[in-house]
Amino acid sequence: MLKVLFIASECTPFAKTGGLGDVVESLPIALRNRKIDARVIIPKYENIPAEFKKEMVHKKTFTVPVAWRQEYGGLEILKHEDSTYYFLDNEKYFKRAGLYGYYDDGERFTYFCRGVLESLPYMDFQPDILHCNDWHTGMIPLFLKVFYWNNPFYQNIKTVLTIHNLKFQGIFPMEILGDLLGLDDSYRGDEGVEFFGNVNFLKAGIVHADRITTVSESYAEEIKTDYYGEKLNGILKKYEGKMQGILNGIDYKKYNPETDPYIYENFRCSSVKKEQNKVKLQEDMRLPVRPEVPVLAMVSRLTRQKGLDLLIHIIDELLNEDIQLIILGTGEWKYEQALREAAERHPQKMKAYFMFNEPLAHKIYAGADLYLMPSLFEPCGLSQLIALRYGTLPIVRETGGLKDTIISYNEQMGVGNGFSFANFNAHDFLFTIKRALDFYHNRKPIWNKLFKNAFKANFSWTSSAQKYIKLYEDLYGG
Ligand code: GLC
Repeated sequence: MLKVLFIASECTPFAKTGGLGDVVESLPIALRNRKIDARVIIPKYENIPAEFKKEMVHKKTFTVPVAWRQEYGGLEILKHEDSTYYFLDNEKYFKRAGLYGYYDDGERFTYFCRGVLESLPYMDFQPDILHCNDWHTGMIPLFLKVFYWNNPFYQNIKTVLTIHNLKFQGIFPMEILGDLLGLDDSYRGDEGVEFFGNVNFLKAGIVHADRITTVSESYAEEIKTDYYGEKLNGILKKYEGKMQGILNGIDYKKYNPETDPYIYENFRCSSVKKEQNKVKLQEDMRLPVRPEVPVLAMVSRLTRQKGLDLLIHIIDELLNEDIQLIILGTGEWKYEQALREAAERHPQKMKAYFMFNEPLAHKIYAGADLYLMPSLFEPCGLSQLIALRYGTLPIVRETGGLKDTIISYNEQMGVGNGFSFANFNAHDFLFTIKRALDFYHNRKPIWNKLFKNAFKANFSWTSSAQKYIKLYEDLYGG
């Protein structure tokens, strides 16, 4: 059986700030269901819920070299829902609030990369593949070559790096090259870790991983261009031969309107039941209970990436329509503030909740009619897939994974599962919303057809897990 260790900074239900956490949970589950022994390791953060921490079993204590330092390493194991999870314990680095944003993140994730490699011999699990995710794990392919090449335990291990978001690269001053990474000057330069005079973790991963994937086919193409490339487009173009796009899936068991314990009424493709969910959502939100009014929703990190600038630009014009708007998420203060003020101006039409709340998120997906996702860029996007699963039609900008999953309704061909627009322009967004509202109010047969199409889509892991397996087998066989 092929053995794959997923290495990441997030994994639900233990620690999550975004879609990365969901994928690092759900992809290994999908692989395990297909006879791959896939396991996960993440840092043992302070914020991991106590119910999980108390079930962890301490497996081994060892030392982790961080350049000249010798740091404590603890390997903890947790069996959770038939899966094995590992946690790397070091209180100096991880016993803090939250996940990231500390002055010494460069040191923390250097430690993590080294510590994971040091912990492998104690896992009772010798991986064939190390599947790294995002910059936090970017040094692993390089460390494996530099520090472990002559150790038989490591010699056949291959590496895959998945880029979930090119925006975050892990850029730190060049001083850390020797002082933290323990690398000599020969690792500066283009084939090393250097990026405009700094050290770049993600770049090191791109150069040294055996294979690179990103989370949709369109994004794999986009990031080779100046516009989306975040200054790494040159290097990505150079290594395009080992890069491919594999679309994310979502866990169809967790997001299943037929069985979801969080939603008001379970349903499948029933507009009557869907409306019951809407009415209860309106009650809970203390919005006027009016089943005939379209409810628009957004469950999102409130950041520039997610297109908040477009929404805020047109929000008053939008709220002049007979609609209701519900927003759930946390993010940048300026966006929260603008949304808070808009909700105050339109108390009968708009509610905004600045928090993480999984049960409420499910209720919103189930109760809304339209889901807004006008992203500036979107490596894959999971929310539009969840929305489809609950029969909520996505309105998206045609970028990255949004372009690969949402087909804008085409009147000539009669096909579609949502609505989309091409340019990052607030009035194109507004116009597309109005187009959707027109179908909602005036062209019910078409609306109903789109509603049915949403349920026909299949964005579970079925096909993508198979693509990862093919990739692992090619790599392992070759
Ligand atoms: C990041 C990306 C998002 C993607 C997720 C999981 O959060 O921004 O588009 O769906 O990672 O890969």
